[in-house]
Amino acid sequence: MRKNIVAGNWKMNKTFPEGVELIQQIVNQADVVKNVELIIAPPFILTAEASKIIKDSAVKLGAQNCSNYKEGAYTGEISASMLKSVGTEYVILGHSERRKYFKETNEIINEKIKLNLEIGLKPIVCCGEVLAEREKEEHFQVVNKQIKEMFEGMNAENMKNIIIAYEPVWAIGTGKTATPEQAQQMHLFIREKIKNSYGSQIANDISILYGGSCKPSNAKELFANPDVDGGLIGGASLKASDFIEIAKSF
Ligand code: 13P
Repeated sequence: MRKNIVAGNWKMNKTFPEGVELIQQIVNQADVVKNVELIIAPPFILTAEASKIIKDSAVKLGAQNCSNYKEGAYTGEISASMLKSVGTEYVILGHSERRKYFKETNEIINEKIKLNLEIGLKPIVCCGEVLAEREKEEHFQVVNKQIKEMFEGMNAENMKNIIIAYEPVWAIGTGKTATPEQAQQMHLFIREKIKNSYGSQIANDISILYGGSCKPSNAKELFANPDVDGGLIGGASLKASDFIEIAKSF
């Protein structure tokens, strides 16, 4: 059976003390959340400390990115095994902000996914179209290509450790959410695609999250859809009560 998941992508927000405080608040409120995997992905400098704070709670630890190189002379990069060594379980990969500002391609994301799986981390792999592509009605085509190229070389066993996040770029940080119908349509499309490549068992079991201006006021109607298994939350994950409220929306 697939998991319901609510993951908080903090992006480049919170200093160390602010982050510690937010993690503590989330941990303190987390026990009201039932049947949902709660994941936080703070900035790297908080990872090791976050791991200690969440230790006896149900909250799981994620990261927002990692290098496509294993180790060595790559100044400024953080490797998958470094993240694993401090208790990280999940890594967000292929976020649209990584694509846009850091020129990540599907090929680079594919390398990162493979490396994460090899190290034993679970990738949360993002896909989604930009506004111009939606307006030209190319969104299915765009997501189809992203999925095909990012998952190149994956087998069914690999897919058991992967989570997909559909994040229409026009909905990220804009306050403009996809309608529940738009989300369901794309999630179903992605699930069908996974089914065609890896079979119905994998397709049924894989969690597909929605991301893009998801907040307490709209999470319920988004999560009510049969193929929406939770959310990847940006802005609203920076306030513990909002983040927990979203997770209570199932
Ligand atoms: P917002 O929730 O701030 O729109 O961000 C979504 C997102 O990009 C999560 O990865």
